[in-house]
Amino acid sequence: MPSKNQGCPFAVGNGGELHQHAKGEEDTLTTQQGAPVADDQNSLRVGARGPTLLEDQVMREKIFHFDHERIPERVVHARGVGAHGYFENYGNLADLTRAGLFQRAGEKTPVFVRFSTVLGNKGSADVPRDVRGFAVKFYTQQGNWDLVGNNIPVFFIQDAIKFPDLIHAAKQEPDRGFPQAQSAHDNFWDFVTLMPESMHMLMWAMSDRTIPRSLRFMEGFGVHSFRFVNQAGESTFVKFHWKPKLGLQSVVWNEALKINGADPDFHRRDLWDAIQSGDFPEWELGVQLFDEDFADKFEFDVLDATKIIPEEQVPVKPIGKLVLNRTVDNAFADTEQVAFCTQNIVPGIDHSNDPLLQGRNFSYLDTQIKRLGGPNFTHIPINAPKCPIRHFQQDGHMAMHNPVGRANYEPNRTTWRCRIS
Ligand code: HEM
Repeated sequence: MPSKNQGCPFAVGNGGELHQHAKGEEDTLTTQQGAPVADDQNSLRVGARGPTLLEDQVMREKIFHFDHERIPERVVHARGVGAHGYFENYGNLADLTRAGLFQRAGEKTPVFVRFSTVLGNKGSADVPRDVRGFAVKFYTQQGNWDLVGNNIPVFFIQDAIKFPDLIHAAKQEPDRGFPQAQSAHDNFWDFVTLMPESMHMLMWAMSDRTIPRSLRFMEGFGVHSFRFVNQAGESTFVKFHWKPKLGLQSVVWNEALKINGADPDFHRRDLWDAIQSGDFPEWELGVQLFDEDFADKFEFDVLDATKIIPEEQVPVKPIGKLVLNRTVDNAFADTEQVAFCTQNIVPGIDHSNDPLLQGRNFSYLDTQIKRLGGPNFTHIPINAPKCPIRHFQQDGHMAMHNPVGRANYEPNRTTWRCRIS
């Protein structure tokens, strides 16, 4: 029922219910269509006790939108926390790579980093014994480069075709729906004992590395052998390492159990508090570099992600630093919607023939289309490159950047390239 006291911010309706009223233009609540909302607390009713009218578009819009707030959580690495920052390059690496971000000392490239656990669902605790994801999106002037790594230098399997089995065995058991966020359970042991190549990663996974004290005390690894390629087309194998400025620290199991009970958000709170108080976490990016000759002579296949190349044999050379200096304004907008894809590389950085990496290059794009609802997820600000984009891809659900001009194909005679609005 409409209220009699329209001038007052909280007027009392005929049924004794409170009604809010918009006060002025600037703080007037509106619908998504921009129409002012007179009352956000009471639906339109026939008489004091209803029924509610279906024609109340304000109520319908509010509820319909709420009903659709969730998107699918990530199939792995569902629980994560993100932060913005920059990568600062130490020196000129032109002899190794033509990637723009590595050409000038002091050059800063904006980044977004998402840390994650692997097995737990989105609402699980921060400190289970689990591998941590360390995913970095570099917004370079030659496009986005995603270095999607973990805090362990090796992986459980050598071939991506085994990944669905590995994850099925490690996540909750399908009949009972538990345990979650626990790698130590029957299905997992069943699987890994049938998968001898997983033993190396298991030793790391069951070590203190998988119960880090904080995300700021954690190393990161690109895991695979990638390639740097210079202007002359010469290629060097490269493995990427993140070394935390604070060093490497873990909790012990008793502490982890207490922390998970007392503060399931322990790691995300720690990262948030550190950045908010100006204590910006830093990592050095280091590279192990080697050539085809080394690869041919090395005791293991350098394309096998279950093996490391010992740092004693190929030392890690620091090439730049990562600083996280800005928390997100909105966790959904950035941390949930960020779409890392290992296929996102830039000129001067290339994939290798590692079969695990090749499988990942298919999987991440595929899963983002499902999770973010269509092919236009690069239009979401956190995924959009910060350099010019010109292409003829168009339309699809939620198209925000649309080609302008008559020709939407190439080659063409009217315009040599497409402008994106
Ligand atoms: C070296 C091995 C691997 C590493 C280091 C790794 C790392 C990661 C990280 C860090 C994330 C979370 C990204 C984020 O924060 O949004 C992630 C997600 C994911 N990974 Fe992997 N992963 C590996 C192997 C694989 C393989 C072999 C596959 C599939 C064949 C795969 C499929 C996925 C999928 C589907 C997601 C969810 C992506 C999303 O929804 O955003 N990963 N991985």
